Amino acid sequence: MASLANTRVLVLGGSSGIGEAIARRSAESGAAVTIASRSADRLAAAAERIARDIDTAVLDTGDNDAIEAFFAEHGLWDHVIVSSADTARGPMREMPLADAYAAMDSKFWGAYRIARAARIAEHGTLTFVTGFLAERPAAGAALQGAINAALEGLMRGLMLELAPVRVNAVSPGLVDTPLWDNLSTARKREILDSTADRLPVGRVGRAGDVANAVHYLLITGFASGSVVRIDGGGAIS
Ligand SMILES: NC(=O)c1ccc[n+]([C@@H]2O[C@H](COP(=O)([O-])OP(=O)(O)OC[C@H]3O[C@@H](n4cnc5c(N)ncnc54)[C@H](OP(=O)(O)O)[C@@H]3O)[C@@H](O)[C@H]2O)c1
Repeated sequence: MASLANTRVLVLGGSSGIGEAIARRSAESGAAVTIASRSADRLAAAAERIARDIDTAVLDTGDNDAIEAFFAEHGLWDHVIVSSADTARGPMREMPLADAYAAMDSKFWGAYRIARAARIAEHGTLTFVTGFLAERPAAGAALQGAINAALEGLMRGLMLELAPVRVNAVSPGLVDTPLWDNLSTARKREILDSTADRLPVGRVGRAGDVANAVHYLLITGFASGSVVRIDGGGAIS
């Protein structure tokens, strides 16, 4: 029997990459899935790729009024996963302060606004997608690491505050998703290949790897306050 049968799953950032894979995995496991993001076109394209009967919702995690209206309208969810983020990266002294603030607003405060408004069933879960830079910082991505660390701290506090709802995070290493498409094809290839060479598993992550980790958190009733690292061994190698 499908392990998420008769559950309602909402994936913020479900129109691309990791969020899309989480939506696909959840739908395959029998859940009624809704994917949400800013762009109706990207949502429609993702729904077509997933090729299952899923719902889409245009929702910007920067718009608190829209978030509150959305949750008031849609009732109780069993599982809410926040995989949405649009964050500029770069060396601190080169990145405009406005871009740095926008990155924090998108990933940290976006997740906070969703957590604050979401209506989740008592047996349900809230899951954040953070990232390996929280543990394994990199020059040129200090802010990303700080945002992910802040989100993991928020997760631990909310685990206590929202109990019995289970609150967790998955922390991916480098995953080949459209996140990297703002780079030239050659530069993207170079980053993916050099990372794969460095990692004990010999490859970079796939969105489906992270979706498997999220699935584990959704179906495992004893998992709460966890950060599941899914990074090909990168954090300790
Ligand atoms: N890929 C990696 O190597 C990697 C590594 C570690 C951590 N992560 C983290 O994993 C998460 C997902 O990344 P990804 O690789 O799947 O990136 P992605 O392919 O670029 O997907 C990002 C998703 O977020 C949505 N989004 C962005 N801003 C939004 C907003 N304000 N409101 C609602 N939706 C919004 C996008 O859709 P729209 O454009 O339609 O809004 C898209 O669906 C991010 O938090 C990222 O930091 C990724």
